[in-house]
Order: sequence, then C-alpha cells, then structure tokens
Amino acid sequence: MAEHIYPIYDRMMTRQDKEQLLQQRGVVVWFTGLSGSGKSTVALGVERELHKRGILCRILDGDNIRAGINSNLGFSAEDRLENIRRIAEISKLFVDTGIVTLACFVSPTRDVRDLARRIIGDEDFCEVFVSTPIEECERRDVKGLYARARKGEVKNFTGISAPFEAPEHPALSIDTSRLPLEESVGKVVDLIVSKK
Ligand code: ADX
Repeated sequence: MAEHIYPIYDRMMTRQDKEQLLQQRGVVVWFTGLSGSGKSTVALGVERELHKRGILCRILDGDNIRAGINSNLGFSAEDRLENIRRIAEISKLFVDTGIVTLACFVSPTRDVRDLARRIIGDEDFCEVFVSTPIEECERRDVKGLYARARKGEVKNFTGISAPFEAPEHPALSIDTSRLPLEESVGKVVDLIVSKK
C-alpha cells in the first residue's frame, strides 16, 4: 500500500501551491464551549466577514458532521473521542488545501482537544474558547436539550451530567453573553488575519 501512496504524494500539488493559488494561509480555528454557547453563530459571522475579504472558509459543526459522516456516533467518552478524531482529520485535509477551517464542537475535555491539536499540528491549530456561562446556555436552550437533560431524558449531557473542562491557554476567550456578536466576530477575524 505504502509503495503505492508515496509516488502519488510526490506528484500532488502541494499545500504551498494551493495557498499561493488562493492567496491565503490555511488554519483551523477550533471553537470549544458548551452546547448553546454560540460557537456556530460566531463562526457564521466570521465566515461571512472573511468571505467579504476574499478568504475561503469551511465551517464544520454538528449539523454537517454528526448528521453525516459521524451519524454512527453518540456521546459516550469513547464516541466523543472518535467524533473529534475524525473531525480533526477532516480539518487537516481542508488546511492542507489552504482553507480557513472553523470547527465548532463542544469538545469537552482536554484529552479530546489535545488529540485534535496533535492531528492538526500546533502551527495550524488555534483554540477559541466560547466561555458563555452555563446559566446563559441553559436560559437560551435553543434545542430544548438542557430541559430534557435536567429531567434525565438525555444522558451524558455536557455541563449537566458530563464534564466540561475549560481550556487552560486558549488563543482567545469569548463570552457571548457579555460581548455583542459583531465584537466576538471581529476578535476571531483579527486572530485569523494575524496568522496570515
Ligand atoms: S462533542 O462533545 O463530541 O464535541 P458535538 O459538538 O459533536 O459534541 O455535539 C454537541 C451537540 O450535540 C450539542 O450542541 C447538542 O445539540 C447535541 N447533543 C446531543 N446530546 C448531547 C449530549 N449528551 N451532550 C452534549 N451535546 C449533546
């Protein structure tokens, strides 16, 4: 197998070629935070703003990953690790294509985020902690899951019956209950542009 793969790699256009074509640098912005903290909402704003500036992005979140490629995974610690492993591998492919990748996943524990960082590589991994307090996430309860988790109808629910470990040294922390959306978006955009 390996003999077959290596010659192909040699002949592929490189990441550098692709970044030159796109006139941008690939990076993964990894949004971690509780369900309902605002990860995807901020990422949508970032994507829109970067698009205006001519920067190509890809958002990965529960809607396009857990509904598709990871539809066979649940929320046990083991499944979450596999969820994040696959997402990190997918993110790496995007980054190697020069695309700014916005990965929005609860990724609740240090071990799963460390795995993502290892797979993607330190240089290309930028951690953003969406630190909105659980009281606010629960008040929002966009999907009604907190109410169901309180009643015991949803097992292993992050923040209620499963742990969330805050990152120790995120590149950025954003509390969407305190910061207006445009400001949160602006901070992430500035971070991405500073990596160029
Ligand atoms: S992760 O923990 O494996 O990173 P992921 O971000 O993919 O989680 O999915 C989290 C989303 O799935 C939440 O925003 C919520 O809508 C939904 N969900 C369903 N069950 C759970 C659960 N037990 N814990 C957390 N989120 C859940």
